[in-house]
Amino acid sequence: MKLSTKLASLFFLSTVLIIIAMGTSFYFLSKSFYKDQLQKDIEYRLEAHREVIEAHMNPETFWHVVIMEQKERENSFIIYDTEFNVQASNQQISRDMLERYRDWLMEATEFKTRRTDFIETMVHHIPHIWSFEPFMEDEEVAGYLFIDQDTGSFEEARWKLFVIATVMGMITLLFSGILIIFFSKKITLPLTNARNLTKRIAKGDFDVELISKGKDELADLMKDITSMARQLKEYRDSRQQFLTNISHDLRTPLTYIKAYSALLKDKELDPELIKDQSAVIYLEATRMERLVIDLFQLMKLEEGKVTMTMQGIDLVDFIRTVTKKVKSASDKRKIDLLVSSSQSEIVANVNIDLFERALLNLLNNGVRHTKPFGQIKIRITKQLNDIKIEIEDNGEGIPEEALPYIWDRFYRVDKSRSSMSGGSGLGLAITKQIIEHHGGTINISSTVNVGTIFTIMLPRIY
Ligand SMILES: Nc1ncnc2c1ncn2[C@@H]1O[C@H](COP(=O)(O)OP(=O)(O)OP(=O)(O)O)[C@@H](O)[C@H]1O
Ligand SMILES: [Mg+2]
Repeated sequence: MKLSTKLASLFFLSTVLIIIAMGTSFYFLSKSFYKDQLQKDIEYRLEAHREVIEAHMNPETFWHVVIMEQKERENSFIIYDTEFNVQASNQQISRDMLERYRDWLMEATEFKTRRTDFIETMVHHIPHIWSFEPFMEDEEVAGYLFIDQDTGSFEEARWKLFVIATVMGMITLLFSGILIIFFSKKITLPLTNARNLTKRIAKGDFDVELISKGKDELADLMKDITSMARQLKEYRDSRQQFLTNISHDLRTPLTYIKAYSALLKDKELDPELIKDQSAVIYLEATRMERLVIDLFQLMKLEEGKVTMTMQGIDLVDFIRTVTKKVKSASDKRKIDLLVSSSQSEIVANVNIDLFERALLNLLNNGVRHTKPFGQIKIRITKQLNDIKIEIEDNGEGIPEEALPYIWDRFYRVDKSRSSMSGGSGLGLAITKQIIEHHGGTINISSTVNVGTIFTIMLPRIY
């Protein structure tokens, strides 16, 4: 069953139940209300007549009272003496009825106080009210006033009300039915849209955009689905990009290895050539190995699967030692490496291997992208809450539009040249991960032909 049908049936059923509950309570309440009203009215009339008769006890008063009762519709009014003989009445009453009144009165007057009964006389199934009131003379009962009131007109009014209420109920039901169908369709429409779109997403079509109006849960759901589709698209694109990059970066060294090993295999070469060609194979195999190791490390870092064994070290000393490892490369290019610090000893908590890996990448990048006779300055400063490490070169710099992508895997500003010089574009992605695993941050600022500054902030230990 459709959700809209379920909702509509649910609302419709509750409306029907509410109308039935209201109708039933109205029916019973009106019944008791009318009964009470009628009883009070009759008793009030009898009491009024009694007061008049007791004040002026004579046949003239009797007739006067009877005439007043003649104005009332559908009732019999009788004045009895103490022996239940009729003294006066407002209309001709059959012998049979008089018998019945007499029997009731004989029993009812036993306690000498007013009494009202609802009598089912069953004349047209309309209940009657019988009531009597004794009147006194010299503190003795002198007779009885009796009324037999037909409740037909009241029943009729009540029936009319009931019919009106039923018709109103039906109209309400009809309108609420139309509204319910309209609104349940409106409520479920976004859900149906969402369902169709998730089907498209499942089939791999991520270019979906759900327009969500309003601020309710459904609008939130639409937004979540849209952002989920966007993330899936990004994930798919980055996975494709990743695979393209990997296959490209593996294919280049593999092509060399294949070509040179084919030469070694098929041709008789002199030992000098064999040595040269084996060296190329070795270099390319090393490059492939590095790529695989880097990828593996990055994957572990991204998944948070590295165990960070931290150690308190003197950062100034440590950086000087790491710098020595790039010395031969920098010397070759005649690049100066200068380390300075705000204090002679600055203690930091690091994972030695990983932190060295991060620094080496930044230093190697600096050496690689700085012209001969350039300079790389490393400044270590102790700040209030952090330790700041700046690695600044006066090399070629990075264009501003490339800066947002610099931390992406496989990103290289100058693709052709860098890949030739050996960089795979994983270094900065790994560096960023390592610094973040230390609870720190790394930022870059760079100007083309002026130089690049990498700024690392590490939390200070006390
Ligand atoms: N100091 C720098 N000066 C100029 N360009 C730089 C500098 N450092 C990085 N880059 C640019 O950023 C790119 C990405 O650097 P990254 O260290 O991630 O990769 P890579 O050095 O090319 O390769 P890998 O580090 O994996 O060997 C580099 O290819 C280079 O274009
Ligand atoms: Mg690098």
